[in-house]
Amino acid sequence: MAEATRDFTDRTRYDALMDVVKKRLTTRAFDPSYVMPSEHYDMIMEAARHAPSGANAQPWHFIAVTDQDLKNKITEYFREEQVRRARLKMKFPTPDYRGLASAPGFIVVASDFRWVKAFPILNDGSELDKMYKENAERILLQSVAAATMSAHLAAAALGYNVWWVTAIGQEKAQRAMKPLLGIPEELSVLDIMCFGPPAKPPYKRWKKSLADISNWNRFDGSHFMTEAQIDDWVSTTRHKVMYRDAENVD
Ligand SMILES: Cc1cc2nc3c(=O)[nH]c(=O)nc-3n(C[C@H](O)[C@H](O)[C@H](O)COP(=O)(O)O)c2cc1C
Repeated sequence: MAEATRDFTDRTRYDALMDVVKKRLTTRAFDPSYVMPSEHYDMIMEAARHAPSGANAQPWHFIAVTDQDLKNKITEYFREEQVRRARLKMKFPTPDYRGLASAPGFIVVASDFRWVKAFPILNDGSELDKMYKENAERILLQSVAAATMSAHLAAAALGYNVWWVTAIGQEKAQRAMKPLLGIPEELSVLDIMCFGPPAKPPYKRWKKSLADISNWNRFDGSHFMTEAQIDDWVSTTRHKVMYRDAENVD
């Protein structure tokens, strides 16, 4: 669109976008009878393809999983992890990962950490290099998150509910999942994206207010939380905001 014809007061596209943004709701159980059209997989991955990335490296790879047997095997790993966490007494309110097998749409998101080389690093093993590498890793993860978020919004725009699953960072999970999907050793599985119609009506979770998360020009110290306050939030509030409707958090 030519610059001169842009109307910055027209909210139509913003409102349409915000409708999708607000209705991107997580569900952890799907309607297993729904058959995901393959063009919807393409449309969702197409949105990911256009995401921004550090150095435009596009350090991501998406595997659309349609084989139910594969979904079941991946779900089985998560079920075992759930049991493991319970034994470890981690106190994290682990969701019921059996819902993964029911997801009509299932995409595994992988990345190759060797792409940190595309970002500013020294590569001489020095302390300074360590700092740059740490930042490079953040650039890589932010890039993959940007693409994943585009995909989630595309799925929401198609009317689906979504589930962003990252409980797979550990070495054991990588070893379990990569051979199933033929993912080369050099790559890492970062997350799984599930999408489809929900098994039960989804709900809007509590979100912090705009005033809570932002300031103009300077960070307002009243927003600073002490370590003890964060610990308190984790033990008294986390489970509510993860699993309850925004209306019922208190
Ligand atoms: C980076 C990231 C990691 C997440 N990891 C998991 C996960 O491993 N398991 C899970 O059940 N949900 C996971 N979620 C989903 C969040 O729990 C969910 O987005 C959050 O509770 C807010 O709900 P909403 O998506 O409906 O707004 C993750 C979300 C993000 C963005």
